[in-house]
Amino acid sequence: MVTMTSKYILILSFAAFASVDCLENGLARTPPMGWMHWQRFRCLIDCEIYPDECISDKLFRTMADHMVDDGYLAAGYEYIMIDDCWSAKERDSNGRLQPDPDRFPYGIKNLSDYIHSKGLKFGMYADYGTKTCAGYPGSILHLEQDANTFAEWEIDYLKFDGCYSDWQFVDVGYIQMSKYLNATGRPIVYSCSWPAYQEPNDMKSNYTSLAEACNLWRNWDDIDDGWANVTGILDWFSANQDRIAPFSGPGHWNDPDMLIIGNYGLSFEQSKAQMAIWAVMAAPLIMSVDLRTIEPQFRDILQNKDVIAVNQDPLGVMGRLVLKRNNIDVWTKPLLAKKKGGRAYAIGIMSRRVDGYPYRLGFTLKELNITNTKGFHVKDLFNKSQKSYSVSDSETIFLRVKPTGGILLFVTPK
Ligand SMILES: *[C@@H]1O[C@H](CO)[C@@H](O)[C@H](O)[C@H]1NC(C)=O
Ligand SMILES: *[C@@H]1O[C@H](CO)[C@@H](O)[C@H](O)[C@H]1NC(C)=O
Ligand SMILES: *[C@@H]1O[C@H](CO)[C@@H](O)[C@H](O)[C@H]1NC(C)=O
Ligand SMILES: *[C@@H]1O[C@H](CO)[C@@H](O)[C@H](O)[C@H]1NC(C)=O
Ligand SMILES: *[C@@H]1O[C@H](CO)[C@@H](O)[C@H](O)[C@H]1NC(C)=O
Ligand SMILES: *[C@@H]1O[C@H](CO)[C@@H](O)[C@H](O)[C@H]1NC(C)=O
Repeated sequence: MVTMTSKYILILSFAAFASVDCLENGLARTPPMGWMHWQRFRCLIDCEIYPDECISDKLFRTMADHMVDDGYLAAGYEYIMIDDCWSAKERDSNGRLQPDPDRFPYGIKNLSDYIHSKGLKFGMYADYGTKTCAGYPGSILHLEQDANTFAEWEIDYLKFDGCYSDWQFVDVGYIQMSKYLNATGRPIVYSCSWPAYQEPNDMKSNYTSLAEACNLWRNWDDIDDGWANVTGILDWFSANQDRIAPFSGPGHWNDPDMLIIGNYGLSFEQSKAQMAIWAVMAAPLIMSVDLRTIEPQFRDILQNKDVIAVNQDPLGVMGRLVLKRNNIDVWTKPLLAKKKGGRAYAIGIMSRRVDGYPYRLGFTLKELNITNTKGFHVKDLFNKSQKSYSVSDSETIFLRVKPTGGILLFVTPK
């Protein structure tokens, strides 16, 4: 049996949260999964110098094709999302947002239709402020009009950024936009960024209000393509986990930003570490990588079914950092109990060590508050050649953890 106390606390905290009035548009019941251009392609708009990489109709069609043909859609990645730099520098004569005419010659609705025809969903980007972060038209004086334009284009997801706004009071505008999106009648996943402007300025965002207005929200700074960004983001999330984890659940998610797996900055081991901890945090799994050139070993990490199942667990609990030992971080996430014996868990391990050999880390499940008198089965979700094994909750589990590497264990009660 799982300790009754931990089960009880879990149920209690859900009950407490259920009384909060959350955004209920029926969407994002599990963390959203998809592909977004920003981290990998940024604001590359010169299609003469970068014909295959520039932010254009062609880029998104090509990525949509790869999402389907290379198994990402089958693995659960369903949204193709345009980030900043898609629009013309000016609104049209009716004040409507319009795409850059050279880079999106058929218009957005046409691209949206193409993406939908592939069985994918389509996401777009706008910014609450006077301008987007890259200097394109902002939405501040056009909230209702922009919500209607996006609905006409049949988008399924909106990332709403917060550059060039008054970050202290930006909540108000985001909440208005939530209402305008709802009023369009089209189900649109709503990704907010207001904490990413408040928290780095030492202002604690109102997470109750976030969960009422948004399906997910970027809590902290943007990720760049490096290991220090993964560890830096996790430092913030673990330091603030008691404050933010209670707001994670079906329909509303904390978002530590995109997966950078398959790009230039992370090694193979570091990529497993990002995937493991993002899975345990119930983070949205938003890839930002060139799907045309990604190496198969990275694709396999992104498409690991068992790891994705941990991330997509229906309980939607954001896992927490529970143990730091020998410069290795151990995170746990309770999963929906699948059998009578009690609750299953995922254990995400991330090493910050840089010394040569795979370090021998030891811990007991009891130390992680994972207890069961009959013991547990343990399975390593990245290593298929390793058989699952049995342990009691007080037996020490020894793992070889590679430098700056990651492991994800799946622990089921016997
Ligand atoms: C998109 O635009 C292309 C080129 O003009 C056209 O051939 C195609 O029919 C359009 N697709 C839709 C769905 O309108
Ligand atoms: C709008 O909000 C209502 C009340 O929360 C909800 O029932 C409905 O599904 C929402 N509609 C859309 C399109 O988001
Ligand atoms: C946070 O937002 C909720 C819901 O909108 C509101 O009831 C509460 O007063 C806010 N808390 C603070 C500290 O402003
Ligand atoms: C990402 O790394 C760069 C370079 O070290 C740093 O300037 C930036 O603040 C980092 N961002 C985050 C979110 O950690
Ligand atoms: C385990 O649970 C106890 C009692 O609730 C708590 O004090 C302790 O911090 C928890 N430890 C971990 C690693 O979560
Ligand atoms: C997978 O596990 C097997 C058996 O424990 C071990 O020999 C092998 O080195 C592991 N592979 C990796 C890539 O860690």
